[in-house]
Amino acid sequence: MEGEAAGSSMPANKKAASKPLRIALGVFVTSTVALGTALFLVSQGHIKLQPKQQYCLTSECIEAAAAIKSKLNTSVDPCDNFFRFACEGWIQNNPIPEDSSSYGIYPWLRHNVDLKLKALLEKPLSKRRDSEAVQKAKTLYNSCMNENKIEKADAKPLLSMLKHSPFRWPVLESNIGPEGLWSERKFSMVQTLAALRSQYSSSVFIRMYVSSDDKMSNEHIIKLDQASLSLSAQEDYLKNTTEAKAYRDALFQFMVDIAVLLGANASRAELDMKSVLKLEVKIAEIMIPPENRTSESMYNKMNISELTTMIPQFDWLAYIKKVIDTKLYPDLKDIDDSENIIVRVPQYFKDLFRILEGERKKTIANYLVWRMVYSRIFNLSRRFQYRWLDFSRVIQGTSSLQPQWDKCVNFVENALPYVTGRMFVDLHFQEDKREMMAELTEGIRWAFMDMLENENTWMDSETKSKAVEKAKAVLAKVGYPEFIMNDTYIAEGIKTLKFSETDYFGNVLQTRKHAAQSDFYWLRKEVPKTEWFTSPTTVNAFYSSSTNQIRFPAGELQKPFFWGTEYPRSLSYGAIGVIVGHEFTHGFDNNGRKYDKNGNLDPWWSLDSEEKFKEKTKCMINQYNNYYWKKAGLNVKGKRTLAENIADNGGLREAFRAYRKWIKEKRQGEEEALLPGIDFTPNQLFFLSYAHVRCNSFRPEAAREQIYTGAHSPPQFRVIGAMSNFEEFRKAFTCTENTTMNRDSMDSLTCALRQTLCRNKKMGMNFLKKV
Ligand SMILES: *[C@@H]1O[C@H](CO)[C@@H](O)[C@H](O)[C@H]1NC(C)=O
Ligand SMILES: *[C@@H]1O[C@H](CO)[C@@H](O)[C@H](O)[C@H]1NC(C)=O
Ligand SMILES: *[C@@H]1O[C@H](CO)[C@@H](O)[C@H](O)[C@H]1NC(C)=O
Ligand SMILES: *[C@@H]1O[C@H](CO)[C@@H](O)[C@H](O)[C@H]1NC(C)=O
Ligand SMILES: *[C@@H]1O[C@H](CO)[C@@H](O)[C@H](O)[C@H]1NC(C)=O
Ligand SMILES: *[C@@H]1O[C@H](CO)[C@@H](O)[C@H](O)[C@H]1NC(C)=O
Ligand SMILES: *[C@@H]1O[C@H](CO)[C@@H](O)[C@H](O)[C@H]1NC(C)=O
Ligand SMILES: *[C@@H]1O[C@H](CO)[C@@H](O)[C@H](O)[C@H]1NC(C)=O
Ligand SMILES: [Zn+2]
Repeated sequence: MEGEAAGSSMPANKKAASKPLRIALGVFVTSTVALGTALFLVSQGHIKLQPKQQYCLTSECIEAAAAIKSKLNTSVDPCDNFFRFACEGWIQNNPIPEDSSSYGIYPWLRHNVDLKLKALLEKPLSKRRDSEAVQKAKTLYNSCMNENKIEKADAKPLLSMLKHSPFRWPVLESNIGPEGLWSERKFSMVQTLAALRSQYSSSVFIRMYVSSDDKMSNEHIIKLDQASLSLSAQEDYLKNTTEAKAYRDALFQFMVDIAVLLGANASRAELDMKSVLKLEVKIAEIMIPPENRTSESMYNKMNISELTTMIPQFDWLAYIKKVIDTKLYPDLKDIDDSENIIVRVPQYFKDLFRILEGERKKTIANYLVWRMVYSRIFNLSRRFQYRWLDFSRVIQGTSSLQPQWDKCVNFVENALPYVTGRMFVDLHFQEDKREMMAELTEGIRWAFMDMLENENTWMDSETKSKAVEKAKAVLAKVGYPEFIMNDTYIAEGIKTLKFSETDYFGNVLQTRKHAAQSDFYWLRKEVPKTEWFTSPTTVNAFYSSSTNQIRFPAGELQKPFFWGTEYPRSLSYGAIGVIVGHEFTHGFDNNGRKYDKNGNLDPWWSLDSEEKFKEKTKCMINQYNNYYWKKAGLNVKGKRTLAENIADNGGLREAFRAYRKWIKEKRQGEEEALLPGIDFTPNQLFFLSYAHVRCNSFRPEAAREQIYTGAHSPPQFRVIGAMSNFEEFRKAFTCTENTTMNRDSMDSLTCALRQTLCRNKKMGMNFLKKV
């Protein structure tokens, strides 16, 4: 993945101001071009002005210059902290919205996509013009915007769920009527767990899903994994720091208050929720941390009968059969003990059922139903959401709720990704973007193979030729899956969904059910290796190891990532080009490298090359471990973020190399024209464009969460880490030795002391270009 998954950062609607600002800056730059140019000639700054060098004075170049200039803080020395130099202006002008815990270029783009979807969804529904699917999307959106109805319904829709098995909530006793009274005798954990998963797509204790079999990537298989907790980080349950304790206290109070809002007796709620939190802490203790979740350790294929022998306390077959709705998938009625499954975390499951065996049924029921209630709170009236906001103040630092329209846009987008995707690309995706994406992909592919062949000194030739084969097989998917253009196909995919303008809660439940069952469609079907199922409006990019695909949905292909051919290529190579390189490199990172060109988990490295690779990654783990993030009060976790750091370092080098090749071949070596009013060479623009992708700021709560749960390093270290390792960067900005942005001397020496293999400066710090 390229950007951090959106998670808790929810942009507000304030950012509409950015566009007029940009236009204003454009005007400003236009009127001062002549002056700027003159100033240039005298000041000369970093750049060497050759008489031949031209300025590009088109409106696009002026716009780009203004966009770049407005993001900088030129008082910072680029060799000291390139992130601050590149981003501090933008960060200053774009404070974190009250309803978000972090804000940056990614969330800003996300917000722009939301605004476009809002405009599309708010166009009046037309039975004549709108396809069936678009009508459903608009109806769903309208029901969500119908706040009067939602207020009137208040807690009623949820309470009616809590009155029936399997979701009676012990803490409520008979306070919502005698039919709501929970009974230990009638409680079945299997039943409740299965209902959560099969009706609402909620995974508690167990995450069950269908995806491709890692070692037979043409086939689908059921996988069982650990699930999430109420708080996002495992550490929040395990540490005794002030923050962790405050989070647990806030969660406890939140659970109590919600139970009381739904009718519980307060003192009873406190007692019950104390036990619930204790149980959740025990679960957190046995969860397998990300560092231990390697592809090999999670590949435990067995049949259900073997799993039942291993963990006899739970009726696995009954659970799996209850989760799958065989009315939708009659073929799956035949699932029995012989069904193969992949158990990703056997030790966790053993520990889990040991814990649950010793737990009171009432506590288990209280916990399971709490999780159901928690995932529905957003779908209730305001008073519930305001109670959530008090909780969010503590764990995310936010101080207002997201505007209803934004929530509703995200809801419809998640529920109907292909419908909203189609609406979006019809209006906002230009097909000619494919051409430059093809140019970039081929440039990256070439650069990767060129570095492998000409600079990698440690990989043996057999492993190299396998790596080349895999690089050649990487398949790029751009924009949107073709099938979204087929109205019949889209309508068929959502034919069971029948929305009502006046029943928002009922609509939500339908979408949950639909999401819950959708992956079972694939269970007996072959994996379509050249297809992709990514929502087109996603502002992110991906690598898929099972299909060896790199994926760039339409949402990602926008300024300031993707710049059209009218803009200097340096900007696109530095931004979307590095993103292409980043995804490409994931195929060869510490996890991706284990999969072959056909997407199978099947070792293709010689033992010797593998050993050297591992030695070399230790340097990088070390480098990032040493980054201290004051906002979080924590150091970066070098091991947890290794795959992303490899992708960043590799992607930057590949894209730069591809850019220089483009200049050499497409412009016969002649540099691109300069931008007016800003003092940068094309190579410098390349690096600025990379850094600008990453501009982002965080509240302390979000910073902490980023370190504990993020797969990526924090943005400033993604910039500083990859750039300070790269000799072309320090050349471009003439960063002398002993500067932070030039790690060639001091830090590689430190590294060398620990890792003999890294002693060779060139090999050590630059190893990534050779992977
Ligand atoms: C820009 O950098 C200077 C020097 O470090 C600093 O004093 C100033 O506050 C920064 N400006 C912004 C907007 O962050
Ligand atoms: C945190 O405090 C609790 C209760 O005092 C104690 O049982 C636990 O061991 C402590 N955990 C850590 C990681 O120190
Ligand atoms: C809550 O329960 C306690 C203890 O059982 C009882 O004393 C109290 O009256 C109850 N409160 C309400 C509002 O029912
Ligand atoms: C994670 O792996 C390390 C090293 O292999 C091991 O010592 C540790 O016990 C593992 N932790 C868990 C929770 O599995
Ligand atoms: C499950 O797998 C084991 C080991 O391969 C085999 O002996 C057993 O017969 C299988 N059970 C069923 C029900 O297929
Ligand atoms: C309804 O609840 C679901 C699940 O929590 C959430 O994803 C969705 O955003 C909610 N809808 C709204 C409009 O908040
Ligand atoms: C569109 O989808 C339908 C239903 O899946 C299919 O029968 C039809 O062949 C598709 N049309 C095109 C042009 O692919
Ligand atoms: C870099 O720092 C070291 C140690 O502080 C010092 O010995 C060396 O002279 C410095 N080099 C440069 C070029 O400033
Ligand atoms: Zn990534």
